Amino acid sequence: MASFAAAFASVPRLGLIEGPTPLVPAPELAAQLGVATLHLKRDDLFPELHGGTKVRKLDVLLAEDAFRHAKAWVVAGAVGSGQVAAVVAAGKQQSRPVHAHLFRTPLGEHSAENLAFTASWAASVTAYRNQVDLAVRAPRVVLALPMASGIVVPIGATSPRSMLGCVLAGMELAEQLQAADGPPADAVYLPCGSGGTAAGLAVGLALAGIDIPVRAVMVVDRFFSPDMRLWRLVRQAELEVRRLGLTPRPCKLELRRGFVGPGYAQPTPAALKGAANLLELGIAGEAVYTGKALAGLAADAAAGLTRNPVFWVTVRRPGLEPQEGWLERLPPGLAALARASGSVSPPPATRRNLLLGFAAAATLVGAARLTGYDGPGGEVLSSWELAVVRAAGEALLPNISAAGLDALPGRVDRYLLSFPTSLRVEVHALFFAVEQSLPFAVGFHRFTALSPADRLLALERIAALGGPGLLIARSIRDLVLLAWYQAPEAWPDIGYEGPMVSAASRPSVYDALKAPVGWVPFSEAP
Ligand SMILES: Cc1ncc(COP(=O)(O)O)c(C=O)c1O
Repeated sequence: MASFAAAFASVPRLGLIEGPTPLVPAPELAAQLGVATLHLKRDDLFPELHGGTKVRKLDVLLAEDAFRHAKAWVVAGAVGSGQVAAVVAAGKQQSRPVHAHLFRTPLGEHSAENLAFTASWAASVTAYRNQVDLAVRAPRVVLALPMASGIVVPIGATSPRSMLGCVLAGMELAEQLQAADGPPADAVYLPCGSGGTAAGLAVGLALAGIDIPVRAVMVVDRFFSPDMRLWRLVRQAELEVRRLGLTPRPCKLELRRGFVGPGYAQPTPAALKGAANLLELGIAGEAVYTGKALAGLAADAAAGLTRNPVFWVTVRRPGLEPQEGWLERLPPGLAALARASGSVSPPPATRRNLLLGFAAAATLVGAARLTGYDGPGGEVLSSWELAVVRAAGEALLPNISAAGLDALPGRVDRYLLSFPTSLRVEVHALFFAVEQSLPFAVGFHRFTALSPADRLLALERIAALGGPGLLIARSIRDLVLLAWYQAPEAWPDIGYEGPMVSAASRPSVYDALKAPVGWVPFSEAP
């Protein structure tokens, strides 16, 4: 362990982390959850940047040359993002302007404080209607590409290098667990957003010889396989450890799903309860991250999957001080959202119910006609659904080439293969609603039977209905765009140059695929 600390000393850092954060028992909460012991790892007590685990990653990330010498930092996140507020706090401390790009989500009390702080101290704030709007209007920010305005902080401040801060955290906890009295801890719980904290922690614990799982509770609804992403992050963190001259050991990392509820930043009753539990202990529990993670722990405790857990308190301390007049510094839409905040908006009706309801309504008015479509079906979508994708693509992407259009349905179909059955039900309802909902919008025609211009008009009209109509229009648009962005033809529009290597590095390109010397297959790892 000492060797890692010594090796880690060579990694440039801002110096925001001084000494370990406390690991404290929480007997009352343990009793409430029905576990024998519960320990809290209090990262909220970091003195710098108002605390929170994010400080560990920022300490390494922002000390990298590219960030040290950048004229400004650019950061994106939800409108009340703690990560954005932490970067803004770091910018304030390091005298660096921060440009914030915020997409809308419901705003609870905790996240309203983050927003007020961000508005107070960020050099600029740009607002987006949702995540997709951000991806479409500011792809360089989402893809962390170089920007004229400054260097982009990756989502969640997670980079291979920054995860070293969390590897060190894992070793720090290991040392505390080895010194602790009482029954040994059997699992570590924490929220999982970008996944960098959980991955780094798991690698660090394993490196220190602690053989318990890190259980990462998903708080975001990812389209793409979160397991694969998490394990890729583990491999990246392990590679960084190797670069420091050390040998990683196989780690235990488990993903807990089913606690996101209707979506990222949308509170659930279990998350609100978890947040309230933490507030009682003087911790700034909130329903976006920590509340959902504690809900995951509670469910595992009820199922007998943990008796002696550690809960990692990743959130910052309460009480971020805004600057007077911060509200006027926000774009008008966000200012209205902030004014209305304080009370958490109730979770909206679930997407599934809205879609199924709309599809049922279409059936009731006798509009369901699903025959007369040419061609074979795909793996997930039937031939009429593939036709809907093509028709939507033709309407939404007027400059797409014929080949690009032909490829769209297959891409959407392949993408949906990774969806669990419950989500596929929603997708089928979505296609049904698009194809059949036109009676409500532009007359009794199938969507695919309309001209491209009328399809666009129909989508606009459905969207204008709000509620389920808006959901349908947006969902089909997002699916089509996701497929479109996979096409090289689309890349110039989003400033992506493709997965290419420069001519200079071509002779060694296959070297990158070789395992570093000393690696063994996972199954043979000691
Ligand atoms: C309070 C809190 N907990 C946990 C996380 C998730 O960390 P990660 O993105 O490394 O998964 C975040 C990320 O923003 C956070 O703000």
